[in-house]
Amino acid sequence: MELIDGNKIAADIIAELKTQVAALPGRPPCLALVRVGEDPASVSYVKKKEAASATIGITSRLIYPPVTITQDELFALIDGLNADPGVDGILVQSPLPKHINEVAVFRRIAAHKDVDGFHTMNLGKLAQEDDTGFVACTPAGIMELLQRSGVTLAGQHVVVLGRSLIVGKPAALLAVQRKTWANATVTICHSQTANLPALTRQADILIAAIGKAEFVTADMVKPGAVVIDVGVNRVADPSKKSGYRLTGDVHFPTVSPLCRKITPVPGGVGPMTVAMLMQNTVKARRQNG
Ligand code: GUN
Repeated sequence: MELIDGNKIAADIIAELKTQVAALPGRPPCLALVRVGEDPASVSYVKKKEAASATIGITSRLIYPPVTITQDELFALIDGLNADPGVDGILVQSPLPKHINEVAVFRRIAAHKDVDGFHTMNLGKLAQEDDTGFVACTPAGIMELLQRSGVTLAGQHVVVLGRSLIVGKPAALLAVQRKTWANATVTICHSQTANLPALTRQADILIAAIGKAEFVTADMVKPGAVVIDVGVNRVADPSKKSGYRLTGDVHFPTVSPLCRKITPVPGGVGPMTVAMLMQNTVKARRQNG
């Protein structure tokens, strides 16, 4: 079994982007980070995005409206960022409070500033394999991790566990692309799938993005498979100072000995999401500038 080191691969990408940003003409790229309320996971994720921006030389603009902001007020805020020529990329951290329609918010962001890749136009471009669009950061990060770890997708059976807009669906669309780095055979499984273990056991590459702590157990994995664990779950642990520990969607102690390669949590997919957001922001600066 070999661990896929997301921290190392993400650091390599961030170093590459820093060099690219230094060579860009004109002002540095600018990323607007919108975080509604104080959800602890969102606070931590947005901090990481802010820190990576600073390392690379991307200007970040931090906007933290209260959890009570109305949908119309949030739309107005986004409209302002859309119209601002000094802003290249806009990210609204998910999840949003229940009274706000998340997809409506994603659609409100101008497609050419949608560095998250959740806008209808960018999801459409992904389906059409039009590389001028933005690809959602976590799925893009997964593909980059696999490529840079020497995992070939072509002809392999990729099973995606989870059908979210943020991970599952775009990951499946990427893996099936007519590209030399893709060309996989893809199955999407989810909470309503019958006989789930029989399907996941067929995976050469299993992408677990179901959002349930330690859901994937050894009986669900084929020996020799590559396992990508997208889950970030907080599980109560009184022995920790924070009162919780982070765990993935995969039961690591029993699954990892079976695998050819596996990503740890933390230190696997998470840092790659941030690196891909940075890459999309540099792309936005190039395309909009
Ligand atoms: N929440 C979890 N992942 C993401 C992401 O990639 N982008 C945004 N905006 N919110 C998220």
